[in-house]
Amino acid sequence: MTILTISLFSFLLLIASVCLSFCNCNSNVLCIESERDALLKFKIDLIDPSNSLSSWVEGGDCCDWNGVVCHNSTAHVTQLLLAPPDGRQGYGRSALGGKINPSLLELQHLNWLDLSNNNFSTIQIPKFLGLLGSLTYLNLSQARFQGAIPRNLGNLSELQYLDLGRNYFSKVKSLQWISGLSSLQYLDLSGVHLRKATDWLQVTLSNLPSLLELRLSDCSLEGPIPDYFGNMSFLEVVDFSSNSLNSSIPNSLYSLNHLRSLTLSFNDLQGEISSAIGNLSSLIHLDLSFNELQGKVPDSLGDLCKLKEMDLSSNGIDQDISQILLILSTCCLDCLVSLRMSYNQLSGHLTDQLGQFKILAYMDLARNNISGPIPWSIGELSFLKVFDVS
Ligand SMILES: *[C@@H]1O[C@H](CO)[C@@H](O)[C@H](O)[C@H]1NC(C)=O
Ligand SMILES: *[C@@H]1O[C@H](CO)[C@@H](O)[C@H](O)[C@H]1NC(C)=O
Ligand SMILES: *[C@@H]1O[C@H](CO)[C@@H](O)[C@H](O)[C@H]1NC(C)=O
Ligand SMILES: *[C@@H]1O[C@H](CO)[C@@H](O)[C@H](O)[C@H]1NC(C)=O
Ligand SMILES: *[C@@H]1O[C@H](CO)[C@@H](O)[C@H](O)[C@H]1NC(C)=O
Ligand SMILES: *[C@@H]1O[C@H](CO)[C@@H](O)[C@H](O)[C@H]1NC(C)=O
Repeated sequence: MTILTISLFSFLLLIASVCLSFCNCNSNVLCIESERDALLKFKIDLIDPSNSLSSWVEGGDCCDWNGVVCHNSTAHVTQLLLAPPDGRQGYGRSALGGKINPSLLELQHLNWLDLSNNNFSTIQIPKFLGLLGSLTYLNLSQARFQGAIPRNLGNLSELQYLDLGRNYFSKVKSLQWISGLSSLQYLDLSGVHLRKATDWLQVTLSNLPSLLELRLSDCSLEGPIPDYFGNMSFLEVVDFSSNSLNSSIPNSLYSLNHLRSLTLSFNDLQGEISSAIGNLSSLIHLDLSFNELQGKVPDSLGDLCKLKEMDLSSNGIDQDISQILLILSTCCLDCLVSLRMSYNQLSGHLTDQLGQFKILAYMDLARNNISGPIPWSIGELSFLKVFDVS
């Protein structure tokens, strides 16, 4: 009887401890009341047609609410993730709209704010967002904001990630405010009209020492790409596509030896691709398509031993295709996946050298002056277009 009692007791103890550790693993800190009230105020000013914030109710634990993340020990709200799940493809049904209540400022530990892909078509970005001093991540892209970008955003000195792309801002006259963002690693201003901000590159590069990614696609940039990359050897991604940049590719750009992705497509870039391109030894993705580049690709392209995708379509490259493949075969036989060079002035014919590219899957050489026949050995190609289709 005693033995039974003891074993029953230890059994209960075991159950209790299992339960305790189980409950511990899942125990959520309870949200802070003042922060819950701030969120409820914030909700009142939002238009939420699909009721995606239905979990946000009086008395609830705000750390459990949809889109709210709390610190796991202090319980402060640290993240608001309010991009609609069906966002990217056109404004989804669950897009939020309305106004942004300054009660957000009571979330003093907020470091991550994502309002992208919503529909704030009736307001500007509120100036007070510049007071959210703990923010490291701010994504307001494709959210239909109007009017001016408030310069106060330049006070967010902890910010590492800023995406304001694809909104409906008025023309930007100066980017000087950006110089306050000394921690910034990622900047996307795609679709922001920057023609009047003539110092766009100097301001960005000389003030943002930590910058790794710079995306300025479709920004109405015109004239030359300033030769200003000398001190930015840490840049990893540059995208200036779909502007009216009309110089040659500046020399200093070829010194970015950490660059993984370079996209300068859909501009009016002139001149030849410099042999200095061989210095871009980290390059994986190169897109110079739809420009007015001339001449031949330099032998030093063969020094890019990580190159996976190269798109030089719609330029004036005038070279024998087998010479280009020879250059690329120097160290890209194991890395090149996609080669696009349609609409140039390539000549010659394809040979069995094509089969040496072990993982080349996509090649478009249409609209050149390449003659047949197609070689027997085409390796792993699943897409090959060589001859003109009229
Ligand atoms: C809190 O989260 C951090 C990382 O997000 C994790 O390393 C840590 O172990 C967590 N602490 C607790 C008590 O769960
Ligand atoms: C965005 O919001 C405005 C104003 O509330 C509304 O008129 C418009 O239809 C909305 N657009 C979309 C695509 O939902
Ligand atoms: C480049 O564009 C600028 C501004 O549109 C223009 O003034 C200049 O003449 C152009 N230069 C070239 C070489 O086309
Ligand atoms: C590059 O850095 C040097 C020293 O750090 C500085 O004197 C120079 O002005 C910088 N150049 C540019 C283009 O930012
Ligand atoms: C490319 O690298 C070579 C050798 O390291 C160097 O002399 C040259 O200045 C570099 N070119 C550019 C544009 O950085
Ligand atoms: C195309 O190449 C052939 C030789 O293969 C040459 O005779 C012809 O002139 C070239 N056509 C053009 C438009 O360059």
